[in-house]
Parts: sequence; C-alpha cells; structure tokens
Amino acid sequence: MRIPDSFLDELVARSDIVDVVSGYVRLTKKGNNYWGLCPFHSEKTPSFSVSPQKQIYKCFGCGKGGGVVNFVMEAEQLPFVDAVRLLAQRANLEMPETGEAQGVREYRQRLLALNREAARYFHSVLRTPGGAAGVAYLKKRALSPATVTRFGLGAAPEGWDNLITAMGEKGYTKKELLDAGLVVKNEQGRLYDRFRNRVMFPIIDLRGEVIGFGGRVLDDSTPKYLNSPDTMVYNKSRNLFALNIARKSKQGRIILTEGYMDTISLHQAGFDCAVASLGTALTSEHAQLLSRYTKEVVICYDGDGAGVSAAQRAIPLLEGAGLKIRVLQMKGAKDPDELIKTQGRAAFERLLEQSENHIQYRLDKLSANFDLSDDAQRVEFMKGAVELVASLHSAVEREVYGARAAELAGVSPEAMAAEVKKELRRRLFREKKQQERRDLTPAQQLQPKARGLRYENVRSALAEEGVIRLMLLSPDLFRQAEGLEPEQFSSPLLGKVYRLLRQRWQQGLQVQLAGLAGELSGEEMSHVASFADQPESAAHAGRALADYIAVIQSEAFRRSGLDDAALLRAAQQRYKENKSYGGS
Ligand code: CTP
Ligand code: MN
Repeated sequence: MRIPDSFLDELVARSDIVDVVSGYVRLTKKGNNYWGLCPFHSEKTPSFSVSPQKQIYKCFGCGKGGGVVNFVMEAEQLPFVDAVRLLAQRANLEMPETGEAQGVREYRQRLLALNREAARYFHSVLRTPGGAAGVAYLKKRALSPATVTRFGLGAAPEGWDNLITAMGEKGYTKKELLDAGLVVKNEQGRLYDRFRNRVMFPIIDLRGEVIGFGGRVLDDSTPKYLNSPDTMVYNKSRNLFALNIARKSKQGRIILTEGYMDTISLHQAGFDCAVASLGTALTSEHAQLLSRYTKEVVICYDGDGAGVSAAQRAIPLLEGAGLKIRVLQMKGAKDPDELIKTQGRAAFERLLEQSENHIQYRLDKLSANFDLSDDAQRVEFMKGAVELVASLHSAVEREVYGARAAELAGVSPEAMAAEVKKELRRRLFREKKQQERRDLTPAQQLQPKARGLRYENVRSALAEEGVIRLMLLSPDLFRQAEGLEPEQFSSPLLGKVYRLLRQRWQQGLQVQLAGLAGELSGEEMSHVASFADQPESAAHAGRALADYIAVIQSEAFRRSGLDDAALLRAAQQRYKENKSYGGS
C-alpha cells in the first residue's frame, strides 16, 4: 500500500517528534537534544534521545531509532499505515484513501463484522434446542446468566455446517469464513465448521471488536480447547482475553491467569481485573500491552509444575516492561476457578493479599529444590540465592532479600552480604572485560546491530553512511553527487536509502528520514537513525562529500574486479574534479 509522499511530508511537518514522544516519555533538554528513559526497553538512566533538528529519535541502549512514524509504530505496535492514520488524527489531517489500502481496510472491517455476526449466532444458539448441552455445561461450571451475557458466551451446535449456513444467509462468502478462521478446508477441498459441539468464548479486543474465538469441549475429550488461528484481525501474541474489561477496573492491578475459565470465574467473583493469555505463553508484546494499563501484575497461574515454570518465564518479560510483579501461589486447588468454586471468593482474596513479590517467590521456589538440613545442599542453595540477590538492581532490595536468603540457608546476614558483594564484583569484572573486548574490535562495533544488515565492506559503508548524513544535512549536495549511483554502494540498505532520498530531492520533497518510514523495516530504520545522528560539519560538507564519493567509487571498482586502468583513471579524474568543486 502506498501513502502519497506529499501527504507523508505534510504529516511529518505537522507532527513534531518532541511533542509526539513527550506523550509517552518524560523528556529533559540537554544540549541540542532531549533525553529520557527509553520506552522500548527497561532502563534506569536515560539513553533515549530525541533530536528536534533532525526529527529523529534513537536509543543508545537498545538501538531502536527512526522518525516520528517509526516511533508511533513501535510505541503502539502498529503497522505503518495504522501509525500514519493515528498521527493524521492527531494532526487533524484527512487520511488519503488509496485504492489498495481502502480495499484491505474494508476487508478487515468485513472480517470483523463476520466475527461479530458469528458471536451473535453462537450466543443465540443458547436459546435453541441445539444449544441445550452448552447451556447445561455453562450451568455446571456455575456461570450465571449475567456472566454469560457479559462475556457474550455461546455454543456451537453439533454438525458440520451450521455456521457456514447461518453466515451464508447473512451474505458472507466461504472465502471470508476461511479468512476469519471460522471454517476449515479438508483434503478434498470441502469446507466445514471449525467449532462444533463446543461452548464458545469470543475474544474481544480493546476497541470492542470480536477478533476470534476459543471453543471448549463439553466433556473430557481432546483437544479441550480449539482457538481461532491468527488471521488478518487476530494475533494471539498481541491480545489478552478480557483486557477490554480489565483495563477499566478500579482495582489498581491486573491479575494474569492461564485460562478463559479462570478469568471468567474471577470476574464473576468480583475480580474484574483478571485477564488470560490466549492458549499461548506470555510474550513481551503482552507485557508491553499490560504496562499500558497497569503498574502491577499479579501472576496467578495454575499450581502445577507447568504453571510454576510458566510463571518463571513470565517474570523477566513483565520485569522488562517495567511492571511491578507479584506471584499468587495457588493453595488447596489446582487453579483460580476451582479455588473460588470450592473455597469461595474470600479465600482467593486472602491468597491475593499474601501474594509475594516475585523475588521472594523465586527464593521460595529455589529453596524448594534443596534439602536445607543437608550441609552440602545448603551450600548449593546459597550459590543460587547469591546469584539471585546480586542480580537485583536496588541496594535496599539486596539487603532485604539477602537477609531472607540468609535465614533460609541458616547463615548470618553478614556472611550472605559478603558473598553477594563478591558476586557483584565478579559481575562488574565480567562486564568490564566484555566492554574491553568490544573496544578492541572497532570494526565489529561499526557493524549494524541486526545481522541481516552486516556490512560486507566496512570502509565503503562508512563513506556511504557519511554521504547519507550529508544529504540529510544539506540536500542541495545531491547536485554535487551526480556521478554517484546507488548501485555503487556496497551496502544494499545504504544504496536504497540513498536512492530514496535522491528521489525525494528530485521530486522537490523533504529530504528527511521520517519520510522513509513506509519503505524501510524498523530494523533498517533504527540503523539509519543511529548513524544519521552522528556529528557532521556542514562547513566543509562539499569537501567531505568528495572524499566519501572517492572512497565509495574506488571500492566499487575494486569490487567489480574492473581494475582496468582506464576506469581507474576516470575515477581519479572525477575525484579531482569533485575535490576542486567542493573544496573551496
Ligand atoms: N488451552 C488451549 N488448548 C488446549 C488446552 C488449553 O488453547 N488444548 C488454553 C486455553 O486458553 C485455556 C488455557 O490454555 O483456557 C489454560 O488451560 P487449562 O488450564 O487446561 O484450561 P482452563 O481455562 O482452566 O479450562 P477448564 O477449567 O475448563 O479446564
Ligand atoms: Mn485451568
């Protein structure tokens, strides 16, 4: 899909990057740039900078960078066109609707409408004989009619084509049903309903759209749950069940469960802040999403081994999103649903109050692996505990949990503190060594972070970076670079950037990075932003450009194997001309 460049320019001009970023990050001015804590990784000291002159941002910690559109894409996890749309709304600009985008958008709307119709259909089945078994099942699970309505639960009747028929009558095509993941095609090419004889849980996104379904069997057969596959409107690693409700909760935290039933039971018991990941392990995208709606997450997974290890995996992801984490330990029941059913909401409330800070939780889990009455095992436990405590950033936390660990291990707090101190020193030493190694390999350091972008020819690539930097600084230099062609660039990415910028210049458009957001991937953009912001003096720009071009062209000749004397002489000639042109 193409958004006209002229529109993009207008949009970028009306979307000052400092204003936009300020909506997400507290920025402080230092020198020419603004600085703040990077919204894309967790950090305690600011390494995220925004340049009002170049209208780009970049993080020295995680390497992300780009223009205003990239920022919105990254911060809101949106595809290019949607990020442009959001900025357009903000700037009060009417979005141009080009043919293809219009088509794609309409089709997505169509699939959403179909999902909504399907949810209505499944819900209505509950009032028909075909839904009797589903109604009985929901009742057996002690779900009230109000809960059933609130979550829009339903039932898919027995049979192969109930939904196909019902949606066909509403005018939906087989292709639409397939693309929405509601039907499946067998080997003979025949279509049949994906969900049959199941109770249905619609998955609703933050805008209130039905984006997919989970369907549970009514007995013990397998698979217990069937879920919508990822589709144009549904991505399971970016959505959480019931977040549409939980985000409005006044309870000041979000309870993260494993299952649909756990979440629904909690809501029914008054915990309206419960959500569930959708039959998939928690992702960092989930964690980022949560961090937009809460500061504290209580992990409330099943009490079995799988639940414990899932919690351990979720902790660093949630930590990475800057969330405060507590872990509720299931006692006397396998999961929250069962606990509430057998012991009531007060019992859950108690566990919730007792839920521990995740560090304590990890200490407990660690100690459970050892027999602490055995000396040798106590030493092993100490080792693990020291590592855990030393990994804490705050000195207060290290002291508090160091003392707890000491108590568990049966040693004095002082002994523990001494061990932690030693471990910290070891860590510092390791980091220093790593830093030294990095410093000793400058060529390595100059390489783009992303593997796919590695430079084949570092010498030429650095000159190519220089050319791009100069063009961004004073686009009129394109006039001086007439003999320089994108094909001569050693790095395909840099050649592409050069070509795109030159096109913009030729068309009288703004020569700026933000305008390339639609053409470069986030990774590519981050890399370009990282070198675009290095200092380059405008005063001697002409001279510098001639030098860069000479390097690029001589390397290009070398690469092509054409060490033909005539070609070389031509190159030298051009080099001299350029030098005298720009060197004044
Ligand atoms: N899940 C799935 N496919 C399966 C089993 C589970 O997608 N075959 C997902 C579902 O999202 C489910 C979650 O994993 O909600 C947790 O699984 P489980 O604890 O087994 O389900 P519950 O929600 O607790 O359901 P129930 O109480 O009905 O057993
Ligand atoms: Mn469960």
